[in-house]
Amino acid sequence: MGCWRPRRLTHANLYVSDLDRAMAFYKTVVGLEEVYRRPAVKAGFLSNGNTHHDIGMVDVSSPLCRSGKPGLNHLAFETETEEDLVAGYRRAVAAGQVFPRTVDHDITRSIYGADPDGNAVEIYADTTKEWRTLRTGTVTKPTPAWTPGQPEPSRERLYHQAPEIRRVEDAVFHPRRIVQATLVARDFDGMLAFYTDVIGLGCKESSSDGAVLSGDCGQRDLVLLRNAAGLEPGLHHLRFEVDTMADLSHSERRAKSLGLALERSAPSAEGIVLRDPDGIRLRFQARDGGLASDPGAAPYLM
Ligand SMILES: [Fe+2]
Repeated sequence: MGCWRPRRLTHANLYVSDLDRAMAFYKTVVGLEEVYRRPAVKAGFLSNGNTHHDIGMVDVSSPLCRSGKPGLNHLAFETETEEDLVAGYRRAVAAGQVFPRTVDHDITRSIYGADPDGNAVEIYADTTKEWRTLRTGTVTKPTPAWTPGQPEPSRERLYHQAPEIRRVEDAVFHPRRIVQATLVARDFDGMLAFYTDVIGLGCKESSSDGAVLSGDCGQRDLVLLRNAAGLEPGLHHLRFEVDTMADLSHSERRAKSLGLALERSAPSAEGIVLRDPDGIRLRFQARDGGLASDPGAAPYLM
């Protein structure tokens, strides 16, 4: 049992080498709507409505970019309530875990730390359901530090239980939401212990290749792959859920007609994989597609 018990993975935040180019790609190719930007820190956020953002991004020239290069900034997991978020934080601190950054984002309260491989992790609770009105266009509101527990944390479930999901019809792909991140672990045992014993995901499956971890909603939120030959430690890919194989097949034809390079092109069970302008692998998989079975698709099997 972990310090928290998150519901699910809700977003990935990326460092990008060119914010405008990346925002355009995620709108016109990936098929997410732009929700808002924070120009002061060169950040942008996109979503189809599942939560306030499925993808956040920060330009590498932003003062918020710690690494100075494109890649994963953080993965974010949502708790049931702010009360759960704060209780988990207290358990983590009591257990000697370090989560040095706690922030009031106005629509969420968020706690940031890092896993044993150095990938940043956010765990947060929504503090309002009104993100569509509070987060639109250009946002300039500051994001002050927050002391967990002050003010008294809410016991209300403030995520949308039946969100309106929008579809960007003109885009190449039509995902409903982000559903999974796959990390190649340098320290597999340490990573598995961190994401289960500290973050509080459950181990749904494990094999010689890695482990599938799941939040309370039961999705395959995080896959940890063992550091096998040929796999670089760090983010391997992000997976987006598409409604049907038929829609995915249509997207494949459209992608090919536009000359987009597809790393895995057959819209079979493991889906379609292509890279964003900074080389991040994005995988689109149909809800009705079943599980992959092609042994050549090893990093996509879990
Ligand atoms: Fe985040």
